[in-house]
Parts: sequence; C-alpha cells; structure tokens
Amino acid sequence: MEAGFVGIDLGTSSVKLILMDEGGKIVKTVSKEYPINFPKPGWSEQNPTDWFEQSMAGLKELIAGNEDKVKGISFGGQMHGLVVLDDQDNVIRPAILWNDGRTSKECEYLNGTIGRDVVSAETGNIAFAGFTAPKLLWMKENEPDLFAKIAKIMLPKDYLAYRLSGVHATDVSDASGMLLFDVNNRKWSDKMCEICSVKKEWLAKIFESYEVIGTLKADVAKELGVSADVKVIAGAGDNAAAAIGTGTVGNGDCNISLGTSGTIFISSDTYSVDEHNALHSFAHANGKYHLMGCMLSAASCNQWWMGDIIRDKDFAGAQAAITKLGENHVYFLPYLMGERSPHNDPDARAAFVGMTMDSNRADMLQAVYEGVCFGIRDSFEVAKVSGIKIDRTKICGGGAKSPLWRKIMANVLNISVDSIESEEGPALGGAMLAAVGCGYFASVEEAASKIVKVIGTVEPEPELAKKYEERYQTFRKIYPALKDVYKLM
Ligand code: XUL
Repeated sequence: MEAGFVGIDLGTSSVKLILMDEGGKIVKTVSKEYPINFPKPGWSEQNPTDWFEQSMAGLKELIAGNEDKVKGISFGGQMHGLVVLDDQDNVIRPAILWNDGRTSKECEYLNGTIGRDVVSAETGNIAFAGFTAPKLLWMKENEPDLFAKIAKIMLPKDYLAYRLSGVHATDVSDASGMLLFDVNNRKWSDKMCEICSVKKEWLAKIFESYEVIGTLKADVAKELGVSADVKVIAGAGDNAAAAIGTGTVGNGDCNISLGTSGTIFISSDTYSVDEHNALHSFAHANGKYHLMGCMLSAASCNQWWMGDIIRDKDFAGAQAAITKLGENHVYFLPYLMGERSPHNDPDARAAFVGMTMDSNRADMLQAVYEGVCFGIRDSFEVAKVSGIKIDRTKICGGGAKSPLWRKIMANVLNISVDSIESEEGPALGGAMLAAVGCGYFASVEEAASKIVKVIGTVEPEPELAKKYEERYQTFRKIYPALKDVYKLM
C-alpha cells in the first residue's frame, strides 16, 4: 500500500471504519459499538462524545502499522441528528437522532402554519419528524435555557470532523436533511433559518462531499501517530456515501440500503421534487442530486424480533425454516419507530396481522422480512408514479447479507437486485470521497467505475413476483385501516 484512505461510517448502532488503498482495495475494517437511548417511546438519543471516543479507538486499531500511509479521512454519517454546542464547544444535550419522533407539533407548525408550499419552495422538502429544524423548534419550546446557550449546531459526522480538524463544516448531502438548506441552489436558506430562529453564525460552512475541509488538529495527529498533513474531507450523509460505495452515481441509478433504517436512493443529474414531497429531494455526494425514501426501521426489525423478542441468535437456522415465499398470510407493519416515507407518521406503530393457530415462528420472521420489502415498495411506488423507471437496483447494509432477504426484495419490487463485492456501503463511500479529495481520482464517478464491482444478481421470478404483487396490494391496505387507532395509543 502506497497511500491509505480512511472511511468512517458513523452509524446508529456502531461506527464502522475501513482503510482502503490507492487502488480501492479494502485493507482492514474495524467496528466499535456505542449505546442508543430511548428516553420515551419514539424518542432516540446518543452521546456525541461516545461517537468521538469510539471513532478514535477504532482509528488507532485500523491504521496500526500503516500510520505513515494515511493521506485522507472522510465520512458517511447517520443523517439529521441535532448536535448542539455552547460557546466553549461543550455538547449542550444528547444528540436527538434521525429516528426520533418527538417533533409532531413542530412539523405540523412548519407544514401547516408556515405551509408545505413555502417550506418545499425554500428547501425542496417538507418537515418530517426526524429532520433537524423541527428539533430546534422543539428545543426552543421545551428547553429554552439550553436553547439560549447554543453557539453552533452540527450533524453527527460533522461533530466528528470538527473534533478531528477543528473546522466547522458540513457537506451538501447531509445539510439537505436539516430543512434549513436550499437543496437546488446548494446554500443555506435565510428564510428557513429565520422561521426556525436559527442564527447564521451557528451554521457550518458548506462543502461538496469530496472537498477538503482542512487537516487533522496537531494533538489528534499526535495521538493517532500520523502526520498533521492528513486531509479531512467533508464526506456525506450515510445514504449518499453508501450510494458512492455501491457506484450509484449515474442518472436513474438506484440503491437500497437495509441498515437500522431502510432506504431507496435514486441518483439524478438534475434537481426535482415529487408532487406530494413524499420522497426526500437531496443533494448527492457527486455534485448532483438524488431522491430518497426512508423507512425508520429495517434491519432493526430483524434485530428486534430475533434478539429482543424470541431471543434466537441462530439467524441462518431461522431463515432456513422459512418455506412459504409468496404464500405467507401473516403481515408485519415495520413501524417500530413510527414511519417516515411515505406516511410521515411518527404515531404509526408496528403490527403483526393475520396470524392463525398454525402460524409459527418462521411465518412471523418471514413477515418481518416481507414487511420491510413492502415498506421499500411504498416509496418505490411514489417514484414510479412520478415517472421514474427503475428496473434494477444495488443493495447494501447488514440486511443485504441475507440471500433470502435479497430474493424477497427482488420479487416484491419485481426488479433485478445487484450485490456489490463490499457490503461496507457508507464506509467505502467515505474512503472513496477521501481518495477523490486527495486527488487520487479525478472524480467520484471515476472512483466508482474503478473500485465498485457487482458480484451477483438476484432476478425476480415471474410466478413469485405475481404472488408478491397480490400480497403487496393487501399490505398497503393495512396502514390506512390502523391509522386512526395509532392516535389512541
Ligand atoms: C435518512 C435517514 C437514515 C439515517 C440512518 O434520511 O434518516 O437513513 O441516515 O443513519
């Protein structure tokens, strides 16, 4: 290895770090966990200093023996989280995460009183509970003393970059999810900042995802044993980073991520907004744009069911018992944290529907996998109605490791599903952005074409896809039937 590039995927359950060489080969991966707290049902918080400490511990392990090779560090980070610092750079309160649903009232204010049209014209998006701006309004109303102390606001990966470089920066893809950013023109929206009582000096400087924001702080470089010339590159929100890591950079290219969240990401050369703002319209990490649908619980439904409820660690054995593809009459609504796309309903809750005396564990687990695929199909339908034609997709994230889940996805969407050599979507994307920022590739597209390799494809099977089409038509009737009940819970 001549040169090493570090990609840090600051996820919700853990930070995953990779070291990539100048040819795009992954030399080493390291992962470190940190806790997530759910202080009330539907709330979710993490401690930003845990992110920094675990990332530093992971970095040391990752680069051990290769300290002199490291040229650049970049990121894919969980999006939308609100990190607030005071004028001494102390974290004021735990970060409020992307899957936190406490801001219903603030979203109603933004989408109702201010108006969806105004918010969408300013930002390309409407308010969703997990977005950053409604969280600031919530703090102003519920924690006025803490709100009064704010000197800087930042997103999760930008907090990490700040601790590493001392530069208060963000990138266009992550900034897009704050609802304070004019996505089309790639700049802060003065009007949204005014509406949300955000002072301009609280905001980070905006960069394209592949741009250098600075170098490591001297004390950080010393602690890591690397040169203080190591560049820090802006990086991207984890979905845009994952799209880079799976080579989803051409107009109309699609990537599905099955991590804690589930997302469908459609790369686009131009800016666009769907009729009902059901999909997010965000900037991409390659200088262009994307549309995205985001489910708040995807692979996490599997963790919850297998880990917390039936307490079975034998994932492979449990999957092997699944035999009723296309014929399961049990349905699962995957709304364990409420739902973002397309329902925009923080009050939605998970449900199993349709069990009979002969229903067994395998049927329930199958329903979990299917429910997540049906949820992705809901956003896929919005894209279809907007005239976007998708006939194949890449897939990444923990859930993508399961051949069964990939097969269900291919048949529920009735499209080809390509697997990539590396499942490290956001971390690999981060390392690729670092390599582009350091000048080792001329563009993100060049890096993607040289580094990303498709290693297998699941094709839909006409008979099975037909059965899933019928099941999906039933699935999509369940949420409207339960919607009013959720309000009473
Ligand atoms: C995207 C979103 C999630 C998080 C997960 O809008 O909220 O995918 O980025 O890390």
